[in-house]
Amino acid sequence: MCGILGYTGDRQASSILLAGLERLEYRGYDSAGIAILDNGNIKIAKNKGRLKVLEDRINAGEEVSGTCGIGHTRWATHGEPSDVNAHPLWSDDMAVVAVHNGIVENYREIRAMLAEHGYTFYSQTDTEAAVKLIDYHYKKEKTPLKAITQAIKEIDGSYCFVLLFRDFPGEVWGARKDLPLIAGQGKGESFLASDVSAILHDTRQVYYLDNMEIVQLKKGNVRFFDVEGYATHKEISEVTWDANAAEKGGFEHFMMKEIHEQARAVKDTFGAVYHSGKIDLTEKGLTDEAIRAVSQIYIIACGSAYHAGAVAQYVIEDLAKIPVRIEMASEFRYRDMPMDRNALAVIISQSGETADTLAAMRRAKENGIKTLAVVNVVGSTIAREADSVFYTMAGPEIAVATTKAYSAQLAACYAMAVKFAHVRGVIDDAECTRLIAEIQGLPEKIDEILDEKGSLEELAGRFVNARNAFYLGRNIDYAVAMEGSLKMKEISYLHSEAIAAGEMKHGPISLIERGMLVAGIMTQKGLYQKTASNMLEAKSRGGFLLVVSSRGCEYLKDDADFVFHVPETDEHFAASLAVIPLQLLGYYVAVARKLDVDKPRNLAKSVTVE
Ligand code: F6R
Repeated sequence: MCGILGYTGDRQASSILLAGLERLEYRGYDSAGIAILDNGNIKIAKNKGRLKVLEDRINAGEEVSGTCGIGHTRWATHGEPSDVNAHPLWSDDMAVVAVHNGIVENYREIRAMLAEHGYTFYSQTDTEAAVKLIDYHYKKEKTPLKAITQAIKEIDGSYCFVLLFRDFPGEVWGARKDLPLIAGQGKGESFLASDVSAILHDTRQVYYLDNMEIVQLKKGNVRFFDVEGYATHKEISEVTWDANAAEKGGFEHFMMKEIHEQARAVKDTFGAVYHSGKIDLTEKGLTDEAIRAVSQIYIIACGSAYHAGAVAQYVIEDLAKIPVRIEMASEFRYRDMPMDRNALAVIISQSGETADTLAAMRRAKENGIKTLAVVNVVGSTIAREADSVFYTMAGPEIAVATTKAYSAQLAACYAMAVKFAHVRGVIDDAECTRLIAEIQGLPEKIDEILDEKGSLEELAGRFVNARNAFYLGRNIDYAVAMEGSLKMKEISYLHSEAIAAGEMKHGPISLIERGMLVAGIMTQKGLYQKTASNMLEAKSRGGFLLVVSSRGCEYLKDDADFVFHVPETDEHFAASLAVIPLQLLGYYVAVARKLDVDKPRNLAKSVTVE
């Protein structure tokens, strides 16, 4: 996820772009850049690091003068954060310069096609392929509109671009597919932005671009075109939100915004390894030969990443029939256990900086074990030190309590599970195709669950004064219970415990009091009855039963106090759905308690101390 901007008018573009980028920095902050079109020249300033580094370098914009320009704040997906990979990117003769948000899925194919026409590449980004594809068509078609329409028909993925064409002074162009792009209309000036928050200080008159729509900005004049190049008409809208709410996409908290970004995070993470009908992990160091050679897997992580690993343990073991151990990084780093040399250590971390996880990874490496990091932050320490990296595509996560990064970690682990199962001959082609389709179906089902969030908000009101809660489940459902319980306790400060359902009667049951929340997760058909019995044991001691189960599960329908059904999916992937109502419940209880949801007490986003 990146922040992108365009401006044309009478004022100095650089200061407007820098101010707008500051408001977009929550979308990405590993590098920043601007390009200004002035007197037939395009001047570019960009670098790795926070926007402040760029601002200081160009003296708050004074060193790059001109009244038409584009800007970018980056969250790396393809190519590590570096000066070269920072946007804007340009065609070799600087005829076309662009910033980009999103992913060009077929960038390898585009690069290969362009290479045959003499193009060379200087960055590791997917963006450069797109810019040069537009340039390729521009050289033939001679107009920005024709070049863009032609190129976007050939680009797969979700994206938006904002572009300058050197020979079209005073003009900024844009196009979008699946990701937001907003045009703003001021007096004698116009704007483009990936998020309305970036331009709200300058104008509240905006147009929302439709998918595959192209926009042309001139001073105070905005025009739209469809993908065939025909002019379209759009109604202008007045934005009534305040700038603060706009940054959160209209949500009250970043956490809720990120909960709503999960479908996209899952789609993009899986999409990054799914090419031409197949899961391809070769870039992650997992060739078919390497996959066959793995004798066992250690998954090492902390907190929610550990919970994602706990789900993965069940999924990989069951699908690929390979032994998997889930290890807490803080314990693993001090254990002296015999490790199998042919094992693979999978290190899961959103930030890529967690001290215990990093130390545990180093320990695995010292033992000669190959390490694969599943990390969200490109260029983070764990990503740099691991033997190979599988980047999750969640984009920057601002709320301290993770939601979308956890979901993206699950998607990455599912991809590995299915690939391992297929390569090792446990499943055939048809089953592999079926499982892939199930994973691809998850984003839509996640959104379906979010449509029903109102009922959980009402339910949360009941627990404003609650003191304890239990989350029960077996197998994958136990792993989900751990994550649901953590979400509840860390943001609402309601003490909760996750218990493997069969363990409850070995002690914890003595804590159950009248009205205490006992949440049961039931997505694994073969275990419905077992978990239902444990839930009934809780009910007979006064527990308030919340059941989160797959549609079609009839167990406890008459005994539970509240049932939330999630759509059906292959049971291996049900965690991705069952976790959503649990995240929402934790969120709503915290809101009902008037707590600081995004910044819970005593917690930090990145735990870089032991
Ligand atoms: C909980 C949460 C933490 C992190 C843990 C590991 O919502 O976010 O439990 O999962 O601190 O952090 P990373 O994934 O950055 O290694």
